[in-house]
Amino acid sequence: MGKYVWTAAGGVLILSLLAGAVWMVQAEEPYAPDQPIAFDHKLHVTDYNIQCFYCHTYVDRSPFAGVPSVERCMGCHLIVARDSPEIEKLRNYQQNGEPVPWIKVYALPRFVHFNHEAHLRAEVQCSDCHGAVESMTKVTRVHDLQMGWCVDCHRSEEASVDCLTCHY
Ligand code: HEC
Ligand code: HEC
Ligand code: HEC
Ligand code: HEC
Ligand code: HEC
Repeated sequence: MGKYVWTAAGGVLILSLLAGAVWMVQAEEPYAPDQPIAFDHKLHVTDYNIQCFYCHTYVDRSPFAGVPSVERCMGCHLIVARDSPEIEKLRNYQQNGEPVPWIKVYALPRFVHFNHEAHLRAEVQCSDCHGAVESMTKVTRVHDLQMGWCVDCHRSEEASVDCLTCHY
């Protein structure tokens, strides 16, 4: 009987350790959704030297960095890698007049005010917030955009931590 109780207790302990381990693995798994087209930043930016601004054209001028249009991609892919099945998908979106339904990796709640322009003016680098995108084959979220993260950097950079800077 005593032995049975101990075995049961051991089983529960092992199960809860396992559950804890599974939970930790899940908690540490960074967010990197599969995209409708397997777009590879490392290939384009590092191997072929295409600059961030070429595709994210409005990042310094508007609140939204924007993702390039199908036409921008087809500027090259009319010719480059035209036989690839991934480029075939791109062509289909173009022929149907549809944008590629990219899944957002970074998104703030509506009640938070953010703009890229102010950050770029202050020479905060893309990589400070998005990590080394130029070496990612798939975009992976490196910061969870919690308020504490924004405020910590604002404090250390002597940027405003007034509530109304980010909420109004
Ligand atoms: C300035 C030119 C240029 C632009 C713009 C461009 N690409 Fe590319 N892309 C390339 C080059 C070069 C390669 C490598 C081709 C190779 O290895 O044969 C490539 C490769 C690819 C591949 C891999 C093809 C394969 O299966 O081998 C995909 C998918 C792709 N690009 C998608 C896109 C998408 C989506 C866009 C628009 C957001 C885009 N590209 C914009 C030049 C460009
Ligand atoms: C050839 C075009 C191209 C170039 C060059 C490019 N990007 Fe992108 N970027 C895309 C496309 C297409 C997506 C959407 C698909 C995806 O997330 O992979 C994207 C997505 C992103 C995202 C995620 C946006 C979100 O929230 O969903 C970030 C961040 C980003 N790019 C940063 C960069 C940085 C930094 C550079 C330069 C180091 C760069 N990109 C260069 C085409 C490009
Ligand atoms: C201070 C931090 C910070 C810096 C620096 C920064 N970003 Fe962002 N970026 C964000 C945040 C936060 C979002 C989500 C914004 C939202 O949802 O309103 C975002 C969103 C994006 C998106 C998705 C926009 C869309 O329209 O879906 C792209 C692409 C992007 N950033 C590219 C870049 C590039 C390229 C650079 C450098 C030129 C850069 N970012 C610099 C914090 C930053
Ligand atoms: C890596 C550092 C860093 C991070 C992370 C960061 N910021 Fe900033 N932020 C700055 C700096 C530097 C400025 C420029 C201050 C200035 O111009 O005086 C700034 C300015 C701003 C401004 C002022 C814009 C204006 O027009 O005056 C807003 C709003 C803002 N940040 C929101 C955010 C939000 C929201 C986040 C988190 C999602 C964030 N920031 C994350 C460094 C950062
Ligand atoms: C530099 C930008 C920034 C500043 C300054 C800032 N916040 Fe936030 N705040 C955020 C972001 C980003 C979120 C969203 C966090 C998330 O989605 O978890 C947020 C979320 C919140 C929320 C929602 C509650 C929650 O946890 O989701 C409240 C309430 C809030 N902030 C209050 C304040 C107050 C009060 C101040 C001033 C003392 C302040 N904030 C200053 C960026 C900021």
